[in-house]
Amino acid sequence: MCGIVGYVGKSQAAPILLDGLSKLEYRGYDSAGMAVYDGSKIEYEKAKGRLRLLSEKTHDGATMQGTIGIGHTRWATHGEPSETNAHPHLNEDETIAVVHNGIIENYAKLKDKLIKRGYNFKSETDTEVVAHLLDYYYKAGNDPLACVTKVMHRVEGAYALGIIFADYPDQIYSVRKDSPLIVGLGKDGNLIASDVPAVLKYTREVYFIENEEIARLSEGSIEFFDVDGQPIEKQSKTIDWDVDAAEKGGYDHFMIKEIHEEPKTVRDTLNPRIKNDTVDIEELGMTDEEIRAISRIRIVACGSAYHTGVTAKYVFEDMARIPVEVDIASEFRYRNPILQENELVIAISQSGETADTKEAVRMARAMGNMTLAIVNVVGSSIAREAEKVMYTWAGPEISVATTKAYSAQLIALYLLAMKFADVRGLLPADEMKSLIADLKKLPEQIEMLLGNKERIQKFANRFVAAKDVFFIGRGIDYAISMEGSLKLKEISYIHSEAYAAGELKHGTISLIEEGTLVAAVATQDNIYPKTVSNIVECKTRGAFILAVTTVGHEDIEDVADYVMYIPQTNKYFANSLAIIPLQLFGYYVSVGKGFDVDHPRNLAKSVTVE
Ligand code: F6R
Repeated sequence: MCGIVGYVGKSQAAPILLDGLSKLEYRGYDSAGMAVYDGSKIEYEKAKGRLRLLSEKTHDGATMQGTIGIGHTRWATHGEPSETNAHPHLNEDETIAVVHNGIIENYAKLKDKLIKRGYNFKSETDTEVVAHLLDYYYKAGNDPLACVTKVMHRVEGAYALGIIFADYPDQIYSVRKDSPLIVGLGKDGNLIASDVPAVLKYTREVYFIENEEIARLSEGSIEFFDVDGQPIEKQSKTIDWDVDAAEKGGYDHFMIKEIHEEPKTVRDTLNPRIKNDTVDIEELGMTDEEIRAISRIRIVACGSAYHTGVTAKYVFEDMARIPVEVDIASEFRYRNPILQENELVIAISQSGETADTKEAVRMARAMGNMTLAIVNVVGSSIAREAEKVMYTWAGPEISVATTKAYSAQLIALYLLAMKFADVRGLLPADEMKSLIADLKKLPEQIEMLLGNKERIQKFANRFVAAKDVFFIGRGIDYAISMEGSLKLKEISYIHSEAYAAGELKHGTISLIEEGTLVAAVATQDNIYPKTVSNIVECKTRGAFILAVTTVGHEDIEDVADYVMYIPQTNKYFANSLAIIPLQLFGYYVSVGKGFDVDHPRNLAKSVTVE
């Protein structure tokens, strides 16, 4: 879970590398480094901590001369965050430099062998074996391309590598297996990166590198090879993301900017799929027979994406009467799961690179089941791994805590449920029309909720010192609570838990004491009185109650200490509105505590390790 970049061209490389790394800091931010060929040797700099420290050390890259280089921002896996463990890693002669995203699983065995051959290791990383292995093959008389292919045959695990050789000062070699990598075709030079935002400032023409493909870049050319070093042809794709999407655009943090982008995200994910008062998802290429044949849906995902899956379970089961199992991807893949015939496996992922979700898709395919990915990043691994893809059009999401991609995932799932219900004869045309009308209102309703953010900020400021917070709800409200709780804990470091409201009294209620904040979500009419009873149980034990409910339920003020109202919508879509005040609450608590909202400790956005 790191970010890599590389540049070769006419301009000074280091400032471009730093700029690219700044767009990849969401992938890891405990240390960073760059290597540049300065005309006579490979020069490198590393810094422990945020990228800004590397920028300061190199005067924004000005002190590193040269027009070819590679860079790295790290989320430590092997070896603590330190300058020694930061990338790039070099061979002993410092003639080969490597940056790496991923994990070399057999590094210990390779390291032993290399030590026996006289190699000395400086770091505790798995990556250093790659630098020494390249050195070994290079000194045995192989050219750089042959060295790279030989290394690929020796290493096991996941990797995206950027490599420069001092003897070939006009070339970058890059290769991937199970870690993302793109190549950008620039005007005055070419680039490699772990993700598209890192190159958007320089080009929109990118190549998505497939597993075990090698790219060789120089100022005026990009060549591709397979794992045996044979040339291959690749087509570039034009990315239509806005350059501004990767900038803060006047907001204090990416998170608040991205929350404000939710109305647009909802519109962009929804509108192209509504035609003639019905849902059109022909892009999936699923026949009505296939939809009718679905015996069960299995959703696999992690974190917030898993929470959208929990919401979807309630929606699919109620609306389309299809049984749904929701699995945390890392549990699914190690459980010897049973998939039945005609069970559709839906993987949900913003990044499209989450290792466990990707592996779950592979397993489901291997079992012969149809797989459908709901993914935000075009051309990402999960998008390519799954048989069918439905993109969420949220644009690049930079803040580690997801907000707009979560909202877009919900829309994609509602649309699928509506389509499936329609094809299975469970959604009369007038109901479909009314659901579509409600969906179309969501962007405006979200805008309205955003208009109330100062009130939420004031409330959040009262709870910056909270020690424990509980989020409770039933049905879809429980799914919302799970996400509200995760948002708060991941960026404010306040312990919080989400509970099915009816389950609290089976143990956890013993934790409620005078002043404990309980956020109760109560948007679902059919279970509203039940949730209110659970609120009263907490209040009786001294809890301070924040209620999130729908306009029309003003009676909740009799039991709640503070209420956040959401506009009325169809019961299925309440999550899309109720999550907004909860995202804002998490955000403002984190701001109130003075934390680095976009880069919470210990986390990284794209979890490409198991
Ligand atoms: C929380 C968050 C994570 C991700 C999870 C899955 O704010 O962002 O919980 O939802 O790591 O990531 P993707 O969706 O990229 O598979």
